[in-house]
Amino acid sequence: MSEKTIIVIGSGTAALSFASSLPPSYQVTVITKKNVKNSNSHYAQGGIAASYAKEDSIESHVNDTLYAGCGHNDVTAVRELLKSGKKIINQLIVSQFPFDVDSYGEVSLGKEGAHSIRRILHAGGDATGRILVDFLLQRLSGRIQIIEHETALDLLIEHGRCAGVAVKDAEGSVSYRRSDYVVLAAGGCGNLYQHHTNDSAITGDGIALAYRAGAEITDMEFTQFHPTLLIKNGAAYGLISEAVRGEGGCLTDLSGRRIMAGRHPLEDLAPRDVVSRAIHEEMMRNNPISMDCSRISGFEKRFPTITGICQAAGIDISDGIPVAPGMHFLMGGVKVNTWGETAVPDLYAIGETACTGLHGANRLASNSLLEALVSGQRAAEHIIQKPANGRLKKASAERDIIFQVPDIQLQELQARMTNAAGIVREKEQLQALEKWLSDAFVHHINMKEITIEQAELSFLWQAAKLVTVSALLREESRGAHFRSDFPQTEEQWRGKQIIHSKSETVIRKNEGIWKQWTFCS
Ligand code: SIN
Repeated sequence: MSEKTIIVIGSGTAALSFASSLPPSYQVTVITKKNVKNSNSHYAQGGIAASYAKEDSIESHVNDTLYAGCGHNDVTAVRELLKSGKKIINQLIVSQFPFDVDSYGEVSLGKEGAHSIRRILHAGGDATGRILVDFLLQRLSGRIQIIEHETALDLLIEHGRCAGVAVKDAEGSVSYRRSDYVVLAAGGCGNLYQHHTNDSAITGDGIALAYRAGAEITDMEFTQFHPTLLIKNGAAYGLISEAVRGEGGCLTDLSGRRIMAGRHPLEDLAPRDVVSRAIHEEMMRNNPISMDCSRISGFEKRFPTITGICQAAGIDISDGIPVAPGMHFLMGGVKVNTWGETAVPDLYAIGETACTGLHGANRLASNSLLEALVSGQRAAEHIIQKPANGRLKKASAERDIIFQVPDIQLQELQARMTNAAGIVREKEQLQALEKWLSDAFVHHINMKEITIEQAELSFLWQAAKLVTVSALLREESRGAHFRSDFPQTEEQWRGKQIIHSKSETVIRKNEGIWKQWTFCS
């Protein structure tokens, strides 16, 4: 019997977790736009959240996730993902993953925003993502094919099923890769905004590919802005992890006033959306904010990556680190079921590309690497138990694929998204943005002619339209989606998802969404 053939688009934690959960006999090809290490996972500083401590429990982790998610999480998905995540963490420990330990040799646990207990496992201080990617790659060594500098341009849909992908290499040659299954693990769309924490390769590809192929895209209005990027003279230098606040860092203005005091009971460790809005509000009043790290001893040892970022920016940490919010994570994405299946047969989505229901309207800190590990493993388990579909036997047909490339500049797109679809949104600005996006002059370019930059702009433009329309439709504020003209969380919106497909946009009630939600962060 021939073994299953799978193409994975993307090379972050979700992709590698997926590949390492399959039998070695499967033919897995990971294609990635740049180097195999260019992914958002690589930059993840915070760590992996899991109810590891004796005094912790899955239920407590579930409650914190639901609290941060503002009543928009799928409670069944949350419980299942966190339960499976705990098992994966234990497996990583058994496999000697080098989690940081304390002086007694016990796994050390950090704290981040909206967690009621210390439950963040980290490695290399603030280099968890990089170390995890290296670990998974080493485990996969020789077992899978990794193709770098290749961009997925379009999914091949045959008889309503996904049968492979059309790709372009760095020399501009187009080819058609066929497979039994395609797995999208291409991250979110961080490059839609001026300041962000994402790799430059993260341009909404997974979302746009899935949308073009006929999948459902949901929750695009929920874009998470991390409160603290090091931003100096208008340039972003990198993330200042929430773990810094977990260890005693606090946000102050020039006078030394702690800006989170009195704003939220959890102060500096309030959920991310709350802290981002507070900083944004201060900045609108021309009040620059910095991270006071004076209460953290041994900063350089605990946060070596951040120390390097500060050095690169010429910042003396003892003077405070200048910070401002930036786009970090897309809670929405390709709508999937518990196994990562999309609405298109044989097409899966995992990691940030997918919307599993775990994060709701605002992701709890350090739940994303956990989700990447679990969603990768689950999709693999599902594919393993499916009968082979023999798709590969068919010949690859040449196709004439046409792209719509807007005649706009990336910088202008980013500026307009930041202003109108950023931390604070409002109807007229969103309407103007939507009009600008849909009125853009469009070039129709054949796949053979299109450059990678044009393809990326086309993907980002598609993602921008989905974010903007969703943000316009959701006339309430919830989690990371804040409308100044509808500042309250509205009961009538509870449990409702805005779902886009090529044929229509619908607002659908999701019965799985947490019904007992009674408070707002
Ligand atoms: C951080 O270190 O603050 C980011 C971690 C995360 O996004 O979960």
